Amino acid sequence: MKYRRLGRTGLKVSEVGLGTMAFGRWIDEQASEAVLNAALEAGINVVDTADIYGRGMDLGDPTLIGESEEIIGNTLRGRRSEVILATKFHARVGTGVNDAGQSRYHIYRALENSLKRLKTDYVDLYQVHSFDAETPIEETLRTLDDLIRQGKIRYIGCSNYAAWQLAKAHGVSALNGLHRFESVQPEYSLIARDMERELVPFAESEQVGILVYSPLGRGILTGKYRQGEAPPAESRLAAGEKRLELLLQGNPAYALVDAIKPLAEARGWTLAQFAFTWVLSHSYVSSAILGASKPEHVRDSLRYADERLTPEELTEIDEISKKLGLFL
Ligand SMILES: NC(=O)c1ccc[n+]([C@@H]2O[C@H](COP(=O)([O-])OP(=O)(O)OC[C@H]3O[C@@H](n4cnc5c(N)ncnc54)[C@H](OP(=O)(O)O)[C@@H]3O)[C@@H](O)[C@H]2O)c1
Repeated sequence: MKYRRLGRTGLKVSEVGLGTMAFGRWIDEQASEAVLNAALEAGINVVDTADIYGRGMDLGDPTLIGESEEIIGNTLRGRRSEVILATKFHARVGTGVNDAGQSRYHIYRALENSLKRLKTDYVDLYQVHSFDAETPIEETLRTLDDLIRQGKIRYIGCSNYAAWQLAKAHGVSALNGLHRFESVQPEYSLIARDMERELVPFAESEQVGILVYSPLGRGILTGKYRQGEAPPAESRLAAGEKRLELLLQGNPAYALVDAIKPLAEARGWTLAQFAFTWVLSHSYVSSAILGASKPEHVRDSLRYADERLTPEELTEIDEISKKLGLFL
């Protein structure tokens, strides 16, 4: 495993991180434990979760949340210091009017609840899950700054932010002498390249770490889904993941899979290995947050993670992406 600096900070993150959105949602505690242990054995030190991750996400019930944090807390007993624990808040986690968002009121409660579930007294990277247009960004940043000073958080980051939102947040931090967001977490894969346009140039210019999520397009880039065919029984599509359904509908995903396959085969790699190494071939990615529902997924996807695609391969992929309208 190789490690990269998280933006301008001194923190070294494994260039592959483990995403745990599946824990307690699509896989049970025992299976989740096996995935987490396989990741740690492989040298992964970033574990990404969120307060919302749990069964309630598919059921539309905001009270059935938190399983992922619970399972991580149980599995990491006695090993807490081995990982960089990254969690998030913002999404609705209860039925009360203030059980969501980024108010000072909610942040204190959200963090206390995450710490309880994670069975720790600090979070290494606390991330806002998305932009909150209903709370002044100064209120959010001042609260997070207070929590850093209290020792409950080490670093702060944001997720699903546009470049202008991050620029605004950095400006507010600078004007008020507050800690700033040191990382951003956008979606990034061969089928989701939006971040290249504005976010990447901004993050590079300001030395912000980029932790990318869904590097395998939620499983699409493993080639496991075929147009017009039923999904494999154990897959997330079969389990009814709404975002995955939308991604397959509104995207030339199947055409992309068919076009990339020969490139993967030319290397003797699986599509998943090729798509994953494509993400890691970009030096602006600090860590690619891989999802897995089996320990074999971790080992298989990591097999060629230390390699880099050639400039010729990257150019060919850009041409394919342009043809399919996935990259301008
Ligand atoms: N900030 C945000 O808003 C946000 C949003 C989404 C995700 N995330 C984070 O990013 C993490 C990763 O997201 P993701 O799970 O969508 O990532 P992903 O890596 O694009 O997809 C993971 C899925 O791909 C399949 N897979 C992975 N490796 C495989 C292999 N070697 N062979 C066959 N299939 C394989 C599995 O699907 P099956 O389980 O169906 O077999 C697995 O669940 C999440 O856990 C979460 O921490 C953040």
